[in-house]
Amino acid sequence: MINDITQALLPVNEIRGQFPGLRADHVHLDGAAGTQVPEPVIAAVQDGMRRAMANVGGAFETSRTSTEVVAEARCALAHLVGGAPEGVVLGPNMTTLTFHLADALSRTWSAGDEVVVTSLDHDANVRPWCLAAERTGVNVRVADFDLDTGELPVSAVEEVLTDRTRLVAVTAASNAIGTRPDVRAIAALAHARGALTYVDGVHATAHVPVDVRGLGADFYACSSYKFCGPHTGAVIADPEVLAGLQPAKLAPAPDASPARFERGTSAFELLAGVRAAIDWLAGLTDAAGGRRERLLATFTALEDVLQQRLTRLVDGLSRIEGVRMLGAPRRRTSTVSFVLDGYRPDALAARLAERGIDVWAGDNYAYELMRRFGLRESGGAIRASIVLYNTPEDVDRLVEAVAELAAARG
Ligand SMILES: Cc1ncc(COP(=O)(O)O)c(C=O)c1O
Repeated sequence: MINDITQALLPVNEIRGQFPGLRADHVHLDGAAGTQVPEPVIAAVQDGMRRAMANVGGAFETSRTSTEVVAEARCALAHLVGGAPEGVVLGPNMTTLTFHLADALSRTWSAGDEVVVTSLDHDANVRPWCLAAERTGVNVRVADFDLDTGELPVSAVEEVLTDRTRLVAVTAASNAIGTRPDVRAIAALAHARGALTYVDGVHATAHVPVDVRGLGADFYACSSYKFCGPHTGAVIADPEVLAGLQPAKLAPAPDASPARFERGTSAFELLAGVRAAIDWLAGLTDAAGGRRERLLATFTALEDVLQQRLTRLVDGLSRIEGVRMLGAPRRRTSTVSFVLDGYRPDALAARLAERGIDVWAGDNYAYELMRRFGLRESGGAIRASIVLYNTPEDVDRLVEAVAELAAARG
């Protein structure tokens, strides 16, 4: 269950002070592409390189340390999203893991079956399913988001579900416009048809408390570099569902889950950093309890703070003539995409960078979304993404700079 006790988050300036990658004169609003990393995570990766540079399963101390590091990372990730450590599949990033799991899942499909993807999703939760479907003679059905609101109505998924649906791939939050679909309702409908759900939590995990069991996610994918950890990914799956799958694996590689879903040697030093990042997040309020409870307290408080910053950003941008924000979803993360008349997004991002403001320009791999907004040919949009270390002043500096550049168009 999600904790409903609201705790105060550590003041943002104290949070910022722990990030060597943040410069005082810089506004970094690119967290959705990857967050900066706090000192304890950097120290943990270094420590991992000192102490855990041997393969797992050996009799000697360094190997025992690597084995512990892996087990601790699984446990921390399970706490982060409310899953079971035995269901935590580790891998280099979400995209690689999703291709791999699409391969394993597609071995259970038959020609004429169907999979559902959405046009709101990052392409990493679309293309692996489309390619696996193509290989196996399975049909892909697309649930479209609403262009005016940027929302993905539950009914859009319901319309494309049939008794042949084997899998619904849906995002927990759009990395381009922040939309948070009602995954719980979507998963309930999918399960009623006998389909599994594969939820892309890469963007959502940095913004809101996550409870995979409550969501009904059979698979929940995330990447720790989006929540202040190193570049590595994980899929938190229902262990019973994993037990029914047969992944492509090397003959001598482990036969037990979740390790049989992991390819090659893990990045032990980065997994030490994953655990440190999750522990660090758990310590951002003074909530009592175990790690899971403290994480829920952190993310409950964080969600509230980020929503205030989001309102400030949306209000500020909406006052600037010539700014068009993509969608206006009611339930969203603090991530906004917009275009400004008279500027290509890459040119605008370059002008903002000259003013010390870091934002991304492009499609952010939200490929179908940008196509539906008609922006693929014109370079996508500017994305401003607010995360836990961004201040109200960061938001104001962006809004002021965009207003100045809008005025300078003449
Ligand atoms: C929502 C979303 N899904 C998937 C991905 C792909 O993640 P990874 O880089 O771990 O493969 C990203 C990366 O930006 C993302 O934002």
